[in-house]
Amino acid sequence: MSQLTDVAQKSNQAKPDSTPDLTKDSVKNTATNPITQKNKSEPAPPCVLVIFGGAGDLTKRLLIPSIYNLAAAGLLPENFAILGVARADKDDDSFRTDLTEEIHQFATGKVDDKIWGELVKKVYYLRGNFDERPTFDAVKSRLEEISARHNTGKSRLYYLATGAEYFPKIAALLSEADMVKQEENVWRRVIVEKPFGTDLASAEALNKELLAVLEENQIFRIDHYLGKETVQNILVFRFANGLFEPLWNNKYIDSVQITVAESVGVENRGNYYDKSGALRDMVPNHLFQLLCMTAMDCPTSFQADAVRGEKAKVMEAIHPLTDEEIRSQTVRGQYGAGTVKGKEILAYRQSPKVNPESTTETFLAMKVLVDNWRWAGVPFYLRTGKCLPKKRSEIVITFKKAPFSLFRGEEVGQLESNTLVLHIQPEEGISLEFGAKIPGPKVMISGVEMQFNYQDYFGQSSSTGYETLIYDCMIGDATLFQRADNSELGWRVVDPMLKLWQKEKPDFPNYAAGSNGPAAADELLARDGRAWRAIG
Ligand SMILES: NC(=O)c1ccc[n+]([C@@H]2O[C@H](COP(=O)([O-])OP(=O)(O)OC[C@H]3O[C@@H](n4cnc5c(N)ncnc54)[C@H](OP(=O)(O)O)[C@@H]3O)[C@@H](O)[C@H]2O)c1
Repeated sequence: MSQLTDVAQKSNQAKPDSTPDLTKDSVKNTATNPITQKNKSEPAPPCVLVIFGGAGDLTKRLLIPSIYNLAAAGLLPENFAILGVARADKDDDSFRTDLTEEIHQFATGKVDDKIWGELVKKVYYLRGNFDERPTFDAVKSRLEEISARHNTGKSRLYYLATGAEYFPKIAALLSEADMVKQEENVWRRVIVEKPFGTDLASAEALNKELLAVLEENQIFRIDHYLGKETVQNILVFRFANGLFEPLWNNKYIDSVQITVAESVGVENRGNYYDKSGALRDMVPNHLFQLLCMTAMDCPTSFQADAVRGEKAKVMEAIHPLTDEEIRSQTVRGQYGAGTVKGKEILAYRQSPKVNPESTTETFLAMKVLVDNWRWAGVPFYLRTGKCLPKKRSEIVITFKKAPFSLFRGEEVGQLESNTLVLHIQPEEGISLEFGAKIPGPKVMISGVEMQFNYQDYFGQSSSTGYETLIYDCMIGDATLFQRADNSELGWRVVDPMLKLWQKEKPDFPNYAAGSNGPAAADELLARDGRAWRAIG
């Protein structure tokens, strides 16, 4: 087996030889990052980060560890503070004590107590209810005091780490309390967590409510998937290399598969998941983002609107599905009892906080056609699900076979397609599969693989995925965030599916936990003479 990494190691003297992660030096290397063309080695500008939902799960598991990583990488401004707002009964001291305990539990690497000690001194807490205007008056006066103490100036990053039902309310109350006005050198930005709506109408309504009080350039709709290095690398791989782009079209590509498989079940998220399901939870955001990055044309620059504009064109080109096409080109599933990695799993319907007669889908597969010159006739097969044999996210590009076999009369048999796999998680890297001659007097061909593995080459990544996104928001780079039209275009595609699936009751459960999903998903590809790449 030939290893691309070996070749690169021999030829590239500039390869980092130690584990870099988010260290200052490695981040300095991103100064030439073609995605943003910005110097990303500088600390972000002074500001206060206000986390609505500061006592919640997202804050302790992901946001605070990311902020810590940014501090360790020297990317936080000196003049900086954090204010957590939630209704839990805490004060500055108890909030700091809780976070100190939690950072040791959730940090992505070893915690440097000196760095944490400096950071936690800048953390504050305010108890209040997001529904009430007095909370916002209290936040405003607390912010004045905190920003004077830390000399942060008036810029603010408001992170809405709350349930989606609060997004419009918090934005409206921030505006009412005169906390979102921007001036020269004073920015006010709002990070909105997903879900951005639950269907097209609610996504449009949410955007309307947010845009009634904020400018589009103040709204950062976060999809943490885009914070992953491997996802960002899709654009670098395609547009910073001359080799692949000429082949990236319907002349050479046969089909594309995008899989986001989870081995876990619904666990304790039944309350949320049973209302959402796999389609809402994964498709308009993660899967369509991966599809856009795979299918988009090269933008004229890596400025946010140029990139987001190209993504929007892909979404606009997706062939809208009629009811008949939904029945023939999409598959939904729900897991029954089974075994994943040797562990017995209860059926979805038996999970805590799930309706015992639930018709919520935990799996879906769909065939998407992108109606433009580049992709006409190339199916994109999308698949996501819970309780599949392995956690695995990948994009598989299958190339057309060689136009004719020169090996007639030899024992070569059928030639295989070349396959390029962009591995997103848990393996992070790229592999290329092609045919090679088996040594010996006869012409016999075997599939071989060239691999590039992030970890082998650049060392272990120790980030949560939120670091880049929070930092980008602080420096005002919206490239990796969804614009209002991007999120609505996603919902426009899935809305007819939601409506039909609600009308036509499924026969669930239809796959066993630990299997590859319903048989109908295999048939979807078999009808086209193709097969899914195995998950397990
Ligand atoms: N957790 C994750 O890993 C994760 C990952 C990706 C995205 N998200 C998204 O992030 C958001 C937050 O999720 P989460 O898991 O952190 O939720 P969570 O644990 O329920 O945290 C929400 C926080 O907001 C507080 N809160 C709720 N209603 C309030 C109100 N009216 N006034 C004041 N405080 C209030 C909660 O306080 P109480 O405890 O008193 O209710 C809690 O501290 C959601 O939109 C979720 O979809 C979460």
